[in-house]
Amino acid sequence: MDILIRKTYDEMSKTAAGIIARMVRSKPDCVLGLATGKTPVGTYKELVRLHQEEGLDFSQVKTFNLDEYLGLGMDLNKPYVLDQSYARFMYEELFKHINIKKENIHIPDGCTKEPEKICQAYEAAIKEVGGIDLQLLGIGGDGHWAFNEPGSSLGSRTRVQALAKQTLDDNYESFYAKAGFERKDMPHFAITMGIGTILEARNILMIANGIKKAEVVAQAIEGPINSQITASAIQLHSGGVTVVLDQEAASKLKNLEHYIHVEKLKKEYGLS
Ligand code: PGA
Repeated sequence: MDILIRKTYDEMSKTAAGIIARMVRSKPDCVLGLATGKTPVGTYKELVRLHQEEGLDFSQVKTFNLDEYLGLGMDLNKPYVLDQSYARFMYEELFKHINIKKENIHIPDGCTKEPEKICQAYEAAIKEVGGIDLQLLGIGGDGHWAFNEPGSSLGSRTRVQALAKQTLDDNYESFYAKAGFERKDMPHFAITMGIGTILEARNILMIANGIKKAEVVAQAIEGPINSQITASAIQLHSGGVTVVLDQEAASKLKNLEHYIHVEKLKKEYGLS
């Protein structure tokens, strides 16, 4: 696991976007797994800049998002179904600014009347394109990856999940309160890739910023692997794993000095 620590949120975002851009340049038809939330906004902003100013080409890239609220969604060919959907978030923050093809974008359809079928089809669609090359992830305040709330099996697949109280609180504050929603009216369920699904991605890129994430980041990276902190499954991944943190999010890591030392050493030896 490579743990890269950056001074600020902006530097964290640039480093993360640089890793994604490297994948897109080396494999122009790569499959990216994408995440929503406040954390990746800066990463997407930098990807948009790389596209607009440096010609980063998304024309062959395929994407699969981690999750969507049940009851919300968006048909990319029609106006928004509901403003708070993750589909809309992705469209606003990234897709509408880059040259990705609509048919290459995959987000679970939260508006479905048949969620189980949608979940199975999502798994099948990931398999059909040969799996995810690089999966971007944040980490929730309760240690979740995507909407895999505490207690989710580390082998879980794409399915419907009830959202934990802390997730409802966090997301209400981040997205719903500002939009004038009452707490009771925000969705309480979501379709989410499972931890087992996520672990099949060939490379994992986890990002986190801010002091509020410091404790849970330390638990995920250095604590015991367990279903209460589902992001701790990062320790089980067999491929390339990179974690990019700002200084605040890294501040409770026990082995902080070691991670800084390793990054420096790798740079010196041309290994990064
Ligand atoms: P956040 O959410 O980026 O809004 O903090 C992260 C997550 O829930 O994975």
